[in-house]
Amino acid sequence: MALIRKRAKPATLPSIVPRHVAIVMDGNGRWAEKRFQPRIFGHHAGVKSVRTCVESAVRAGVEVLTLFAFSSENWKRPDEEVSGLMDLFLRSVRSEAKSLHEDGVCLRFVGDLARFADPLRQEMEALVTQTAHNSRLKLNVAVNYGGRWDIANAARRLVADVAAGYLTPEAITEQSFAPYTQLADLAEVDLFIRTGGEIRVSNFLLWQIAYSELYFSDVLWPDFDENQFNIALDEFSKRQRRFGETGAQRGEPAARS
Ligand code: FPP
Repeated sequence: MALIRKRAKPATLPSIVPRHVAIVMDGNGRWAEKRFQPRIFGHHAGVKSVRTCVESAVRAGVEVLTLFAFSSENWKRPDEEVSGLMDLFLRSVRSEAKSLHEDGVCLRFVGDLARFADPLRQEMEALVTQTAHNSRLKLNVAVNYGGRWDIANAARRLVADVAAGYLTPEAITEQSFAPYTQLADLAEVDLFIRTGGEIRVSNFLLWQIAYSELYFSDVLWPDFDENQFNIALDEFSKRQRRFGETGAQRGEPAARS
């Protein structure tokens, strides 16, 4: 992937850069169908956009990038597409391992990995261990992930701690619940991007996107390049984030009549 060796594009980057960007990479199937190709052709093309976005995130100074690669609902797709995706994940883990590590990317998989075949799970875990101490970019790949699973999983772990006497039911607050959810140790999701033209979040990071800025692009994922990524960052830099306060409290200029 060679993030460090490649020259940055001359495009100017916005002054306010999101610390954490999450992306629903949608549109691979339609991209392939437009070319009269099987859907898996679009997923293969999508791997190139994954590489581009990782490189773009590093160049922009984003700290954390979280990508939705396979939802808990995606198992319902035709067997051929599911097995094609599993094969693609395994190949990508193998082919990208060296360059991700060399480029200082710390990789983590988010989701219920138990359902994946042993060889794939073992290679995923090995790559996570290998890159654990890297700090240039934290890259989270969500696989067999669902936002409701995440919250239910957190609740189950919290209840176990209550049963063990580590905390009382009265002590359960948003603050004490949050550490049980996925990605709780990382910066909050600032920018949530969905490509492919659909305006929905599709069960991705429900807890974590409570205060995220949402950005929807019509561009199909295989066409989502560095320019598109930077357009999203630019849009983010123009948003006024208030977190429940008034504009005046946050020092915004008064609206003109
Ligand atoms: C959604 O598009 C995309 C997926 C379910 C798979 C995403 C996988 C990749 C981008 C490739 C591999 C990723 C990694 C991290 C190695 P869709 O199939 O729903 O597209 P459609 O809406 O046009 O049908």
